[in-house]
Amino acid sequence: MTEIIEAIKKSAKRIQKAINEEELTYAQSCNSSGEQQLKLDVQSDMIIEEELSKIASIKTIASEEKSDPITINENGTYLVGYDPLDGSSLVDVNLSVGSIFGIYEKSFDGKNLIASAYVVYGPRVELVVAGVKVERFVLQEDNFIFMQEICLKDKGKLNAPGATQKHWYPHHKELVESLFQEGYRLRYSGGMVPDLHQILCKGGGLFSYPGTNDKPEGKLRRVFEVFPFAYIFEKAGGEAINDKGVRLLELECGNIHATTPCFFGSKYEIEKVREFYANA
Ligand code: AHG
Repeated sequence: MTEIIEAIKKSAKRIQKAINEEELTYAQSCNSSGEQQLKLDVQSDMIIEEELSKIASIKTIASEEKSDPITINENGTYLVGYDPLDGSSLVDVNLSVGSIFGIYEKSFDGKNLIASAYVVYGPRVELVVAGVKVERFVLQEDNFIFMQEICLKDKGKLNAPGATQKHWYPHHKELVESLFQEGYRLRYSGGMVPDLHQILCKGGGLFSYPGTNDKPEGKLRRVFEVFPFAYIFEKAGGEAINDKGVRLLELECGNIHATTPCFFGSKYEIEKVREFYANA
């Protein structure tokens, strides 16, 4: 496991360099969801694949940028699912982006996740790793220095509602509005990593990416985005559920690129989600 975290650190430093140096043009390819890939997406994917492929304990890797998982060592134990550069469309406006990693055993189902991590490329590079607890590190010179353990309070102040408002279901609109009526403040950049990082670091709040009437299963992918963050929120003392009130970590992976409606927050806000979605 330590060697996987070390590979994530090495990848993070190389990706940061690529963000600073790579031209922001499109590659001649689309990812498996049909989205056009930036050269930077392709470059970040290649960097992570290169670093993870050196590790004998990894059996399979699966990238958000590739249609299928790749077996790298038949006798390996771990499966790593990753989104190399989440929110990459924000790079050209110089907003923060991130890389997300889920470390699984046996299969990519939520229950088999045993650790997860993400990197935020912002004004500084930070790494958050969740094993038994959730720890935050900052890149200084060439090393990731421990900053703090992340623990959520029972109730936060931030509201990060994703997806196109025009397509929200009425009960979702009511949920979002009720939090604003309680004094919650809007914090949404369009990058899952910085948006969830803000909620984690400020002690709580709600990030929602619901099913909508044009995309009932939402947008965010289970294996690469949703399960890793669900694990982090639970370990930090929060909760992560779908629109049926089921823990995200109880969901199966299904198709490797399957999505799900998802809600991440502290206990109070997740209770609110349950309340507003109860009769949906
Ligand atoms: P992409 O990597 O294609 O830019 O998508 C980013 C993801 C996620 O990071 C973010 O939370 C969400 O898409 C934002 O989607 P909306 O703009 O639909 O809210």
